[in-house]
Amino acid sequence: MDVQALDTEARRILRDNDRGGYTVPTHGLYPYQWNWDSVFAAWGFATFDADRAWQEVETLLASQWDDGMVPHILFHKPDPGYFPGPDVWGTGERHPPTSGISQPPVAATLIRRILDADPAGRDRAAALWPRLRDWHRWWHLHRCHGGATPACVTHPWESGRDNCPDWDVGMQGVSTDGVGDYTRRDTGHVDPQMRPKKEEYDRYVAILNFGKGCGWDQEQIIANGPFLMTDPGITFILLRAHHDLIELGRELGQDVQEVEAWATTLESAVPQMWNDSLGAYDARDMRSGTFANNLSSAAFLALYAGIDNPAMNDRLMAAWDAVTYGIPSADPASPNFDARRYWRGPMWPVVNSLIAMGLSGTGRTEVAERLRAETAETAIGRPARAAIISDWLARILSTPTPTVPRPAMPRRRGVVMAARSSGALRMAVP
Ligand code: DGY
Repeated sequence: MDVQALDTEARRILRDNDRGGYTVPTHGLYPYQWNWDSVFAAWGFATFDADRAWQEVETLLASQWDDGMVPHILFHKPDPGYFPGPDVWGTGERHPPTSGISQPPVAATLIRRILDADPAGRDRAAALWPRLRDWHRWWHLHRCHGGATPACVTHPWESGRDNCPDWDVGMQGVSTDGVGDYTRRDTGHVDPQMRPKKEEYDRYVAILNFGKGCGWDQEQIIANGPFLMTDPGITFILLRAHHDLIELGRELGQDVQEVEAWATTLESAVPQMWNDSLGAYDARDMRSGTFANNLSSAAFLALYAGIDNPAMNDRLMAAWDAVTYGIPSADPASPNFDARRYWRGPMWPVVNSLIAMGLSGTGRTEVAERLRAETAETAIGRPARAAIISDWLARILSTPTPTVPRPAMPRRRGVVMAARSSGALRMAVP
């Protein structure tokens, strides 16, 4: 594996997608600053340009709302190639305009890593810490019901895993009356077979319209919004982020008591996500109490959050061994699995990188290395398509490690890797 070449390519893509102070996930399909994409880009930048890494997260957190929310899209410059744009979101006078929902809070965890890579950035980290704390408070109050539940999402886009089968049960109840006509732009950039279907898009727009209609009033959205589901992904990411925020705060001399309390209540809410009949952590519709009955890669983030549940670990290895490369976003054994469609099967380097952090953080270094190597292999397996390397791969790939023999694995089923770079999606070896 030519890790060096891959590393060079990953850096080139980061530079190429740099719009000056912020990075777009990809040309065309995603032309603005997306919250968690941006933090992964910063993590990548930290390996070769610390100043640029800090700037990325500073730009993101500068658009924080007064209530603490950090929006999922920052519309820095108008771009007709994306729908829904700032006029559709209608979040009021903001500079730059933003969307009205959030996205997975990986920032505290990765900012801690950026500071490790650049201890000279201590003052910049100290300036960001209160913003991170306010954002975590927003999750605690508005998405965890003040500590009574795991973290919920009010729109599938808030989870970052847009069309994952996790959301099917909650999406069923979303009425599309009054959505009207609109023109999708995403399917002009990539093969529609790989993107969410029209019936899902109509519901995305309907949920957005509800938020806009109530002026993005969180109490309204939680009490009466068309979609509210607990999300194992956000829950595990937030739990881990609380702990990283605590460590970061201690290092920076901040008062961390409030964050400690949020971490404790969130951890005690985790069992609410356990679906006995699935034998796994599962998303749940908060309106009906119904579980999604779906094993997604987000459930495998338990270890990343420090929850070492042997049953989950067995499910992880089974789902992984059922495909050729990396962890699929949905269970290959499930009828919901779709090897080509976005979050319904394709593996995502960004989630793999967090799962790998969970594996290595709990001493499973050989398995973590297998995951890193397989993720890299999908990107370099076909050098002619080097441009498909996701920006998200930058950090995973930029630290060459000694070659470790790859454990044998059955190659039962192909899986697609979706890369949010150059709008490209690729098929891995079946
Ligand atoms: C999209 O438009 O596909 C995005 O994932 C929404 O965040």
